[in-house]
Amino acid sequence: MSEKINVLVSEEEVTKRLKELGEQISKDYEGKEIHMICILKGGVFFMVDLSKRISVPVSLDFMSVSSYGNGTKSSGVVRIAKDLDESIEGKDVLIVEDIIDSGRTLYYLMDILKKRNPNSIRLCTLLDKPERREKDVKVDYVGFEIPDEFVVGYGLDYAQKYRNLPYIGVVEGVE
Ligand code: IMP
Ligand code: MG
Repeated sequence: MSEKINVLVSEEEVTKRLKELGEQISKDYEGKEIHMICILKGGVFFMVDLSKRISVPVSLDFMSVSSYGNGTKSSGVVRIAKDLDESIEGKDVLIVEDIIDSGRTLYYLMDILKKRNPNSIRLCTLLDKPERREKDVKVDYVGFEIPDEFVVGYGLDYAQKYRNLPYIGVVEGVE
């Protein structure tokens, strides 16, 4: 079975925005090193492409947190499925996420990571759905603010499908 997908943000728009974000982040972190933490799996595509646009030294780590099942609604349960490989103590951490929706996942994660004594911690998300926010999360870098619609592509999935689309699209008929 395959759903109809309508393009919301084109591949060209994503590429252009990545370049802008990379330049801004490189400027903000001048003279420093960035320890980028990717939130699996959705953040992978974004982190890989963004990191190539950053001119200061970068190291990478990965973390997997689950707050959703296979559907489109939050279960309200946030669980660390895979923790970081390395300590973040004293590092300038940049969390890279695919989308901030209710904010629950990041609210919980930020709290855990701040306790591990990084030198600084900032949040970068490809997409932000501000209308859906339930938890107050400070987002430092946003790729695109989008309306309250369920999106897929460029890392985002619908029941694990469509992550590999090079653009961001809305699945028809999904709420
Ligand atoms: P939050 O905890 O509600 O902010 O949820 C964040 C997570 O929910 C993201 O990392 C995604 O995995 C998932 N999510 C939220 N909205 C969407 C969407 O529109 N498409 C695909 N995944 C989504
Ligand atoms: Mg997901």
